[in-house]
Amino acid sequence: MLSITDLTAGYGKLTILHDIALTVPAGQFAAILGPNGSGKSTLLKTLVGLTTVERGTIRFDGQPIAGRRTETMRGLGLAYVPQRENVFKSMTVRENLLLALRGLSRQEGVAALDECYSLFPVLKDRRPQCAGSLSGGERQMLAIALGWLAQPKLMLLDEPSAGLSPLFVIEVFRTLRALCDTGITLVVVEQNARSVLRWCDYAYLLREGQIAFQGTAAELLADEETVKSYLGVKMTRKDAAPA
Ligand SMILES: Nc1ncnc2c1ncn2[C@@H]1O[C@H](COP(=O)(O)OP(=O)(O)O)[C@@H](O)[C@H]1O
Ligand SMILES: [Mg+2]
Repeated sequence: MLSITDLTAGYGKLTILHDIALTVPAGQFAAILGPNGSGKSTLLKTLVGLTTVERGTIRFDGQPIAGRRTETMRGLGLAYVPQRENVFKSMTVRENLLLALRGLSRQEGVAALDECYSLFPVLKDRRPQCAGSLSGGERQMLAIALGWLAQPKLMLLDEPSAGLSPLFVIEVFRTLRALCDTGITLVVVEQNARSVLRWCDYAYLLREGQIAFQGTAAELLADEETVKSYLGVKMTRKDAAPA
């Protein structure tokens, strides 16, 4: 679904990512882990055309997309959920969702909204509420729902669990796993390695703009020392237990 080779990219003349190679098969839940400033967000921004690509290729669903305009990505089936500014705060939850349904017939819209409320039940309760007054977790669910309503093949999410209560962290990952199980491919940037490794299939550890290590979630959970040495986090037995 996504294949990146030899990618070097950054902001203007400032190179941040060096020789990134990464492959995400269809239906996989992949995580990009790494300390603050390691280039995780830059990698997602690069995938949607928001940075300067110096060299390398990015193929999405068989097509080269490096250098394409950001506005065209959604139409190709790629949804990007940024870390901040990912909902319209002055509109209600329902208005946010209706905006994402533009272009559908009334019947399709009603069906999509029904499915949305069953995947994201918290949004049903919050329908009339202004998005700006939602809790962090509720807002994150709305942001994910807005991406999902575009019927993407691949969703890119930047730190969906950042700043959320432990219960909502689980809720967000449970929802992402459910989306993945419907066939959507996921690339999720996370600083919270311990949590996401319990839900994802495969993970890449980014350090100083390079892929320092990669493996299946099971391999990384079993290899505490490696994760600790690359990320500086301690994996306790409790964290490593299956969800
Ligand atoms: N718009 C930008 N212009 C220039 N440098 C940036 C910009 N955004 C991020 N950077 C730099 O790129 C590096 C990686 O940042 P980022 O991708 O946000 O890391 P992460 O998401 O892993 O915390 C940092 O050194 C950061 O200062
Ligand atoms: Mg970031």
